[in-house]
Amino acid sequence: MSLITTLADIVGDAFESQGFERAFGEIAVSARPDLAQFQCNGAMPAAKQAGKNPRDVAQAVIDAIADTSPFAELGIAGPGFINLTLTDEYLAGYIDELDDACHFGVPQQAPKRVVVDYGGPNVAKELHVGHVRPAIIGESVKRILRALGHDVIGDIHLGDWGMPYGQLIAEIADRYPELPYFDEAKVDGYPSEAPVSIEDLQELYPLAAARAKADEDFAARARAAVVDLQEGRPGYRALWQHMRDVSIEAMTKVYDRLNVHFDLWHGESTVNHRLAPMTRRLFEDGFAYESEGALVIEVMTDEDTKEIPPMLLVKSDGATLYTTWDLATIEDRVEELGAEEMIYIVDVRQSLHFEQVFRAAYKTGIAPEGTVLDHSGNGTVNGPDGKPFRTRDGGLLTLRDLVDMVVARAAKRLEENELATEFPPAEKAAIAERVGLAALKYGDLQNHRSSNYIFDIERFTSFDGKTGPYLLYGAVRMNSLLREAAGRSVESGRVVAPEREQERNLMLQLARLPEVIERAAQHRAPNHVAEYAYELVADFSRFYEACHILRESDPARQASWLRLVETTLAELSLVLELLGIDVPERM
Ligand code: ARG
Repeated sequence: MSLITTLADIVGDAFESQGFERAFGEIAVSARPDLAQFQCNGAMPAAKQAGKNPRDVAQAVIDAIADTSPFAELGIAGPGFINLTLTDEYLAGYIDELDDACHFGVPQQAPKRVVVDYGGPNVAKELHVGHVRPAIIGESVKRILRALGHDVIGDIHLGDWGMPYGQLIAEIADRYPELPYFDEAKVDGYPSEAPVSIEDLQELYPLAAARAKADEDFAARARAAVVDLQEGRPGYRALWQHMRDVSIEAMTKVYDRLNVHFDLWHGESTVNHRLAPMTRRLFEDGFAYESEGALVIEVMTDEDTKEIPPMLLVKSDGATLYTTWDLATIEDRVEELGAEEMIYIVDVRQSLHFEQVFRAAYKTGIAPEGTVLDHSGNGTVNGPDGKPFRTRDGGLLTLRDLVDMVVARAAKRLEENELATEFPPAEKAAIAERVGLAALKYGDLQNHRSSNYIFDIERFTSFDGKTGPYLLYGAVRMNSLLREAAGRSVESGRVVAPEREQERNLMLQLARLPEVIERAAQHRAPNHVAEYAYELVADFSRFYEACHILRESDPARQASWLRLVETTLAELSLVLELLGIDVPERM
């Protein structure tokens, strides 16, 4: 159990014994660490409810605390805050029990089946800087929810359906009419080798789109190709499958580097078979109605003060669209995956889309009552001008180039800081890769998910300040300290009562992990975990400066300090794993 829940239980008992709800016993880290370690703000609302004086209530609660053993001090401040400070023995005892087996106090919740929808790239297009946030925030949210015991599935939800693929098929048909995919008489036996590479597709994609705008004849052929593809014409399906496969192969390389791994590679196409029956049913049940030739679902209610347009279900030309696919995907996730919660880490600019789809899903019962549908939107990565990040010539920077750029800068930083200088070249390169990715990921994850941030490679790759490289350096230092201790046969032992402030502060910090993870999960906001990682390393550094572990003459204290190093490293490793950041052995 986490430290604050243990304390809240004790204080909650006291509230209860005085005739109040035990929930008033909730404990928080003190806002005035100079006065106390923890505080309880429950006396004010409790007193208000009972029509009593809050300071009297606070005093009564303090007097009623039956188990006073954890506390060195209990007091009242201001209008009725209860201040609490632990005895050093109690704190040490708590830290002594912290380990992997008890998840460092992180409470395990009743597992829920959760789908995290993140990444969301489109087939045939190269990943670019705009894909970095949904990928790494989504990956972290998935890991954070898993750390609380949930049963989480990460789904990339590929953009793999609709007009772009009709345009590509029409374009490829024009260029290579001899390919077997266009022979209508043929229904199987297509080559296993893709006729187009990912580079070909990336080149053709914008060309085909531009051509469809300018050339009505081509556009008509593209539209016909989409219809045939969606109806399952074997040659088109085979060609489309190739496009999907080569795209996935290219994406996987970049996502692997980013330490982003999907459980499902579903996409818009996955629910194609659901579209016709779903739209028919929604029409028959009266949820969908005709409007200007299209089928729409009204999603506004009487409570709305702002206008929310109806959700478009089927366009006037009979085609389904992004909204239809997302609605059918909810149905699929409920029925096939048993999803109780769906979290979408997708650009905040898509909020109206999700508002419409979610409302339609609840209204039509596609999302059963109690299902959580949550668009946790992400902001953008901006350039120094505050606008979405671009290359010098105004193009979109590919994600691969972005990663290469940061890794190259990280390699230089290692040199500048005289780190890893003597290591074999392959190891040096591997370290630079990790430092670069830590810089990129921490630079992103330290910001709240929904805010925009400026991509500042100099700041992100620095070994000083609140950066990924600083955290890695901290972890590496802990590791080498433990190796050195092992080399001198110094062993860790029981955690003893702290004597110095730096030691005590590190212990208090170590005890905070559970509430950090819970807060991050609740808000789908990994920045809380990112912030914690920094505070933990900073507290460790202060402890390390104040407590000379290898030179300590009292063996019990030395063993206890070493144990603190072990626990800090274990927690830091866990926290970095939640952020998807890999740590090098040494540097
Ligand atoms: N492919 C979409 C885009 O490029 C993002 C998909 C997000 N997920 C979803 N379920 N709609 O905008």
